[in-house]
Amino acid sequence: MCGIVGYIGKQEATPIIIEGLRRLEYRGYDSAGLVVLRENDLQTRKKKGKIDEGLARLVLESPLTGTTGIGHTRWATHGAPTDENSHPHFDQTGRIGIVHNGVIENFDQIKDRLLSEGHTFQSATDTEVLAHLIGEYYDKPRSRNGESLHPLTDAVMGALREVIGTYGIGVVCSEHPGILVGARRGSPLIVGVGDGENFLTSDTSAVVAHTRQVIYLNDYDVITLTPERFTVNSLGTDSAKVQISQIEFGAEASEKGDFPHYMLKEIFEQPRTVENALRGRVDKEEVTAKFGGLNLSTAELRAIDQIVILACGTSWHAALVGEYLFEEFAHIPVEVEYASEFRYRNAPIEKNTLVLAITQSGETADTLAGVRESKRRGHPVLAICNVVGSTIAREAHGGIYLHAGPEIGVASTKAFTSQVTILTMLAVLMGRVRMLSSRRGLQVIKALEEVPAQMEKILAQKDHIKAIAQKYAHVEDFFFLGRQYSFPVALEGALKLKEISYIHAEGYPAAEMKHGPIAMIDEKTPTVILIPTDSLYDKTISNLQEIKARKGPLIAVANEGDSRIASMVEDVIYIPATLDPIFPLLGVIPLQLLAYYIAVERGCDVDKPRNLAKSVTVE
Ligand code: G6P
Repeated sequence: MCGIVGYIGKQEATPIIIEGLRRLEYRGYDSAGLVVLRENDLQTRKKKGKIDEGLARLVLESPLTGTTGIGHTRWATHGAPTDENSHPHFDQTGRIGIVHNGVIENFDQIKDRLLSEGHTFQSATDTEVLAHLIGEYYDKPRSRNGESLHPLTDAVMGALREVIGTYGIGVVCSEHPGILVGARRGSPLIVGVGDGENFLTSDTSAVVAHTRQVIYLNDYDVITLTPERFTVNSLGTDSAKVQISQIEFGAEASEKGDFPHYMLKEIFEQPRTVENALRGRVDKEEVTAKFGGLNLSTAELRAIDQIVILACGTSWHAALVGEYLFEEFAHIPVEVEYASEFRYRNAPIEKNTLVLAITQSGETADTLAGVRESKRRGHPVLAICNVVGSTIAREAHGGIYLHAGPEIGVASTKAFTSQVTILTMLAVLMGRVRMLSSRRGLQVIKALEEVPAQMEKILAQKDHIKAIAQKYAHVEDFFFLGRQYSFPVALEGALKLKEISYIHAEGYPAAEMKHGPIAMIDEKTPTVILIPTDSLYDKTISNLQEIKARKGPLIAVANEGDSRIASMVEDVIYIPATLDPIFPLLGVIPLQLLAYYIAVERGCDVDKPRNLAKSVTVE
């Protein structure tokens, strides 16, 4: 949610910042802007709209020069997406420029005070208030508690001590062209360490083309960068700890390649990303899984009486699959919680409860808050994350990475299948320290290993799925139905369609339709029905007939070899048969492709759907 790119070095800052912002645009695309220092002159450009339509054109028409600068791509929280509300924002004197991700909760009180002192504001944003506050501290006599701080760092630290809320910020000052200051609390901020140059960013993909050495800043860290040096101070009680890490994936992992959209590229990556999720984690001898970062002994795993899973969005749907898996393989009761609800509920949780946080980005604010609340209550917290070094990955007691590579498409696809793969293996592991037989465990592992090849077979049907998509691209409502393991997949299919095509869609347990939603069925409302040849096949056929009787068009996702289904529905997408618990990994692929091709047919911006952001770092 919002992206930051800062540069300080010997090269021209503008192209580096613009290119970095392009790579971060999936985090927010309401507006973009930058400020570059030419000696003591702060030159700024900012524009509403996507980078290539707004900021990049503006910079082309009126170029900037200078080797220090910061840029921002915005997902609006306070203030509408306008040129004025775009970042950077400046203090009262115009000497200090800042970009900011996050929300300053007490900005109203600070603004009132500053207004009474004669400050005037150009925008409706909380960020401008923070800029003014830093400016005020910059002009105050400083109390440095014996520390020798740079005056800009000192001003930033003074202002941030007054602030309630979350922030990842980059700050420059016209009086100090060789200095860039950053700080974080609740919003990610990373330093890219170069040779005679340094970078500041909210996401490694913006700097990976320049350096693979990074420092993941911690909450309350304040960093002061020059081209040659970095110094970290802390606003917290502990002193700052600095560790340089290596980025796992190169710049090419964030490229679209020959695909027209990131989403399509990521859908097609799934055979490989599932392999990556399994790599080195299968123990066929013992019929179990091995996870290096679990930090839980067998005895501790055996002592778990309940699992609570916290997640949002697509990750929440993966969590629902997890519920079925843990209950079936390990007989452990599971609660799947929307992290945003969990954090404010006083949910009674059993003593021996393991909390699982599932999150692609590792930065989702509600999931992070749920993790912190769970830790406070004394529960072990395990994170299933994609982004290495992300806040949740670092704050959890243990974790499992997806190793799926950067997911850029705002609508999550490959993260879902990797999360489900890992949940399946984790459920096997939990089952094997309890009651799961080695025979059943081995069946599951073997079925998982077949998934990449089976996914390839489904992906090869893209033209067939595209033809179905074209047929239904202009309807107003869609239903997605499934039972048991198919039900979370139905929810995910509906979410994908809503997110990128703006068609109203609902996912339902197939048998629940008759308790209300079936009233909406008519000849203009198609239903996707997930109907693998499982133990509930005949029951699902009955649900299908109920829709057919009301003239609702039907698209079935069925197993190869199901000869009955074709005569009952308008369209069928056949997928390879697998075990019931493995169905979500295959059943979701046609639904991702269906949503994708419908959105393309409707002319929607698939990778940057309206109103959405990839990583939601505000409540
Ligand atoms: C946003 C994204 C979704 C994602 C959700 C949770 O809403 O647009 O695609 O599923 O956040 O994100 P997380 O990174 O925690 O999985």
